[in-house]
Amino acid sequence: MFTRANYQTAANVILSRTAYQPTVGLILGSGLGGLADAIEVADTIPTTEIPRWPRSTVEGHAGRLVIGRLEGQTVLALQGRVHYYEGYTMQEVTFPVRVMQTLGIKTLFVTNAAGGLNKDYHAGDLMLISDHINLPGLIGHNPLGGPNDNELGSRFPDMTTAYDVAFRQKAHEAAAQAGFTLREGVYVCVSGPSFETPAEIRMLRTLGADAVGMSTAPEVVVARHAGMRVMGVSVVTNIVVDTPGVQQTGLHEEVLATGAQVAPRLIALLRSVLSTLGTA
Ligand code: HPA
Repeated sequence: MFTRANYQTAANVILSRTAYQPTVGLILGSGLGGLADAIEVADTIPTTEIPRWPRSTVEGHAGRLVIGRLEGQTVLALQGRVHYYEGYTMQEVTFPVRVMQTLGIKTLFVTNAAGGLNKDYHAGDLMLISDHINLPGLIGHNPLGGPNDNELGSRFPDMTTAYDVAFRQKAHEAAAQAGFTLREGVYVCVSGPSFETPAEIRMLRTLGADAVGMSTAPEVVVARHAGMRVMGVSVVTNIVVDTPGVQQTGLHEEVLATGAQVAPRLIALLRSVLSTLGTA
């Protein structure tokens, strides 16, 4: 179990490496690390140099923090989250969010690569997350399991408004103005790392999910426990196969390639939301 002291030690190392005081956190999903290039006058810290920070083991996840200015805000971007399927506990997976909380970050913008379950979706679509189904959490792998530190948040945090309505409204306006389609739907988190079988895909659809991925929901649970406002965007990198006997190959490569294509649209969404936060 981590304690507040662990988060504070990590936060102190970050603060010793930058003069910035970030107020906005940004978690960049598979193939989306390039978004950090939009951050101006940035300081960069490899996460291997931060005590207790879990190490990224997956291609497409660099493992560094980029801290600087974007749209009048001071942001801290994480390139290279870690996942439950890498063998980390849910507490380790969400360690970066706790460090963000300790740094005083109040807003979290989280992105991921996801498979499209909704039959109207196409590869390359962006989906604003309206709600999530945290499947690992529902069966006992919730990052808030175990003793609760009341200084960090309440024992039974509310999740009914996890994805900020005002941010979503703003993102839709930005997409309309820029002239691209922005989907909105339910993200289901699975533990992975194997992709879903056709039967699992049909099950997830029946549950009411529009996109499936292997991250995000645990981070958002912790961010809400921490009282942060959250916006989540899934990049639909592939349309899932729901028919037995149809083989899909090269999925991870597809995931990484799509991320690079959609970066400009994601940045437009990010900028629009940041511009609502006032001067900082
Ligand atoms: N399934 C689960 N996770 C994913 C997928 C998928 O099809 N695509 C990108 N991440």
